[in-house]
Amino acid sequence: MKKIGAFLVVVLAFFFAAKALPAQEAVSRSASWTTSTTQGQGQPRGYVQYQNYCSMCHGEGVGKPGTLALQAKYKGAMPALLDKRTDLTQPLIKTYVRNGLSIMPILRKTEISDADLDAIAAYLTRNNKP
Ligand code: HEC
Repeated sequence: MKKIGAFLVVVLAFFFAAKALPAQEAVSRSASWTTSTTQGQGQPRGYVQYQNYCSMCHGEGVGKPGTLALQAKYKGAMPALLDKRTDLTQPLIKTYVRNGLSIMPILRKTEISDADLDAIAAYLTRNNKP
């Protein structure tokens, strides 16, 4: 009788584990879907890709290495946030992204496509004076 009880416990454990697995997968899939789509709904491609590839370092908030480095570099003479700048040119942005700059890493074409980088450069220069 004890053996049957133990057997049932094992079968039930497998049953619930099997049920829980697809649920976990669904949660992680919806999480990655959220960052690239809902957050950027109705926003231009350059904005969305900037959030995906650059804002973890150049965004607002504590501990963003890009924002901190540019704060130290310009000491308020220039906005520390890249998306508030109006002096950057598209070729300059693309050069920095493809070649890196001090601790900013190189981003290759396999990591960020030319089309996405074009869109980011257009987004970051949207407020430049003609
Ligand atoms: C891993 C963090 C990181 C990521 C990701 C990153 N950057 Fe940077 N970026 C930096 C840091 C740090 C600097 C400052 C380098 C320095 O001069 O010391 C910088 C500098 C720059 C500069 C130069 C600004 C100036 O006035 O000197 C540009 C332009 C730039 N980044 C664009 C981008 C773009 C566009 C992306 C996304 C495609 C990006 N970066 C992604 C960390 C990052």
